[in-house]
Amino acid sequence: MNKKDILRLQEMERKRIAEELHDTTVQDMVYLSQQLELILLYLEQDVTQARLEVITARHQIKNIIGDMRDAIYDLRPLILDEIGWNAAWERLKKKLLKMQAQLKISFDIDSIDPFDGLIAISVYRIVCEGCQNIVKHSNAKIIKVIIRNLGNYIKIKICDDGIGFSQKVTTSHFGLHFMYERVVALSGKMKIDSNTSGTIIQIKIPVGEGKKNDSCNDCG
Ligand SMILES: Nc1ncnc2c1ncn2[C@@H]1O[C@H](COP(=O)(O)OP(=O)(O)OP(=O)(O)O)[C@@H](O)[C@H]1O
Ligand SMILES: [Mg+2]
Repeated sequence: MNKKDILRLQEMERKRIAEELHDTTVQDMVYLSQQLELILLYLEQDVTQARLEVITARHQIKNIIGDMRDAIYDLRPLILDEIGWNAAWERLKKKLLKMQAQLKISFDIDSIDPFDGLIAISVYRIVCEGCQNIVKHSNAKIIKVIIRNLGNYIKIKICDDGIGFSQKVTTSHFGLHFMYERVVALSGKMKIDSNTSGTIIQIKIPVGEGKKNDSCNDCG
């Protein structure tokens, strides 16, 4: 990956964060400010109604704080700093269940602590995107993620039983492109098998000694 590719990846990530903040936090703040205007009006005419609006606004502020926390967490997942590897996956599970409560989620995840933090964060981000795509696009009932730490390699498998898709990575969609670029940045390989009964994404990333042998030629 050359310098231009790294800059492009950074720009893509910034664009996505800006879009997410716009779609959640900024929209909510606009709504909140309209609510405050309303409260000002009610204060003159109907104090009870004004009180009710204040309660709604307070609830709204709590939601915004939650969204801000999520956005900050996404910027810098606390995998290595505070909450730890296992807790980060629990957090992702919760987030996915919030998006789709009926989902059956199975995470079978080895620890990759011994390796450097960049790999842990990259693996986490890649799996997050894969899982969010499943929830957003696949109509799947089951998500299965397996991460194996084989010493020289990390193998990731993200499976769903959804509707599948044809896998042309286009520039208008960010996520798959982002996953692919990340994997390439780590000298790994990514393979997508998708049909009408589901999708399997397999990734293999060399680590430690595995980085020295250039044998990461397949995902098997
Ligand atoms: N697991 C999946 N099941 C079904 N369709 C999928 C799956 N993963 C991706 N897709 C399809 O591939 C397209 C591209 O995915 P990608 O993550 O690149 O973009 P996006 O999710 O649409 O938007 P973004 O990630 O930029 O918010 C999706 O729009 C969807 O049609
Ligand atoms: Mg996506």
